Amino acid sequence: METQKKLTIGLFGFGVVGEGLYQILKQTPSLKASIKKVCIKNAAKKRNAPDALFTTDKEVILNDAEINVIVEVIDDADAALQIVQTAMLNGKAVVSASKKMIAENLAAILQLQQETGLPFLCEASACASIPIIRNLEEYYDNDLLHSIKAIVNGSTNFILTKMFEDKLSFTEALLLAQQLGFAESNPKLDIEGYDALSKWTILLNHAYGIVTKPTDILFTGIQNIQDSDATVATEKGFDIKLIAQAKKLGNGKVAAFVFPQFIPLNEPLSFVKNEYNGVVIESGFSDKQFFYGKGAGSFPTASAVLSDIAALRYHYKYEYKKLYHHQPHELTNDYYLKVYVSFNDWKYIPREDFEWIEEWHAQAERKYLIGVLHLSKLIEGDWWKLNNTSLIVTPDPIIDDLSIIHLKKRSLELAGIV
Ligand code: HSE
Repeated sequence: METQKKLTIGLFGFGVVGEGLYQILKQTPSLKASIKKVCIKNAAKKRNAPDALFTTDKEVILNDAEINVIVEVIDDADAALQIVQTAMLNGKAVVSASKKMIAENLAAILQLQQETGLPFLCEASACASIPIIRNLEEYYDNDLLHSIKAIVNGSTNFILTKMFEDKLSFTEALLLAQQLGFAESNPKLDIEGYDALSKWTILLNHAYGIVTKPTDILFTGIQNIQDSDATVATEKGFDIKLIAQAKKLGNGKVAAFVFPQFIPLNEPLSFVKNEYNGVVIESGFSDKQFFYGKGAGSFPTASAVLSDIAALRYHYKYEYKKLYHHQPHELTNDYYLKVYVSFNDWKYIPREDFEWIEEWHAQAERKYLIGVLHLSKLIEGDWWKLNNTSLIVTPDPIIDDLSIIHLKKRSLELAGIV
């Protein structure tokens, strides 16, 4: 029988997640993992743990030969990167929840793992309590994974639920998300989609072997969603959710983005409320599968860190099979999207960018259209984020079959519509 490794942990960060982990570890003595020291920024802050546990000097932990695992749950991406680099170069395994740091430095983090041969586990960096990274790594073969569609940010899902179901204002809902410890210290990262984008960059890597940067993926958050959008959604039998989506296209390349999306009320993601996250995977033979769980908060996030720590006892590390053992997939921006756009004035909308517009409602103060455009039109212009314009993608938004585009345009031409 293989021996279990004894784990001596140096913890960076004692906020919502760090303290959650400390409490959980106290309740899990069977794990034989103990926190030797915790590095914090502000020594003056009162903490629910003995003073002797804390230090403000990161070197105390990074140079302690007895510490063989660094758990890093801070929200300063630059500091987190330095900690991870030094820790691994000093021979320590790392468990990290820093999604921004990982997403922005994916190539460097991968290289570090190759150079040192040490594990770098990050289950808590995406969808908190849902074990999605390890599932994507271990279970799904590259060729079988057709698409993934997910709610990966708890705060925005919480805010949308509170606004549209409990009739709270945006500000009230955000405040509540902050009080409950779901939101980032800078909530703009949640609201404007940056946090979801970081998580999507990480998940694309484990799902498809794609190594990309957040700046290469098109995204927006929920900042421009209006009450009138919710009314339209309800009339059409939809919910509005912030959705990260990836789909393998006919040419084998992958389309990926993060946008608000209309979700039909009978789809699993529509049942995902409040701070919960959900992931729907479509694969070759199993058809659709749905993962569901808390996507933010102290214990749910710490539970993923705990699981990574437990996996280290058995020397587990990601193999990145899809990156190193298969032909990794490529991202593409060459496809069409069907979108809903609401706006205050036609003058803000470049109608010529659309292949066709199949619905438009211009009477009310808040106007909207539903139409199809090539992704390049969204990359080239930012009209869809300005002047309170709100863009929501439709339930099955990706069109990559050019014959559909040509047929549809031709039939509209014949009908004298375009
Ligand atoms: N702010 C993040 C969220 C925390 O709301 O999803 C969990 O990553």
